[in-house]
Amino acid sequence: MIQRTLILLKPDAVKRGLIGTVITRFEQAGLKVAGMKMVWVDSEFSRKHYEPHVEKGFYSSLEEFITEGPVVAMVVEGVSSIEVVRKIVGSTEPKEALPGTIRGDFAHHSYNYADTNNKAIMNLIHASDAPETAKKEVALWFSDKELHSYKVNNENHTF
Ligand code: CDP
Ligand code: MG
Repeated sequence: MIQRTLILLKPDAVKRGLIGTVITRFEQAGLKVAGMKMVWVDSEFSRKHYEPHVEKGFYSSLEEFITEGPVVAMVVEGVSSIEVVRKIVGSTEPKEALPGTIRGDFAHHSYNYADTNNKAIMNLIHASDAPETAKKEVALWFSDKELHSYKVNNENHTF
């Protein structure tokens, strides 16, 4: 089943010069980029995007983190892409994320370190976690006009 999912390259990924490296991981898996742009999120938009987390203790650190610089937002398309992208991204806590995942390869810190220092977990990426959230998040970040349907060269071999 072909799905679309939202990916954000968070400000730490952008500032560390990892945009290309991270996008390559998704392209290498044969996923198709349906839309992409750079956005500097404000507090109001952060509250919409992270609506399920707004009441949680870590939310203020998370908002500070996600609004500290621009993010690269993209929608990727592929077979079971929501699950596949989460697998490529790895666990939320970089300390536990497996080598080979984006969070495991390019970050390392822990919940404990983040909490002790009053920081968000800087884990490079956001990815939608289920079909309903993907639908909501894609619609929040992209208009229909900004999403494109086209054929990629390797489609016959990867889809
Ligand atoms: O991003 P993911 O879906 O893996 O995790 P989440 O549980 O939906 O949390 C969203 C984001 O909040 C995480 O990616 C972290 O950046 C941040 N977070 C945090 O800073 N401290 C926590 N205790 C939990 C999450
Ligand atoms: Mg999440």
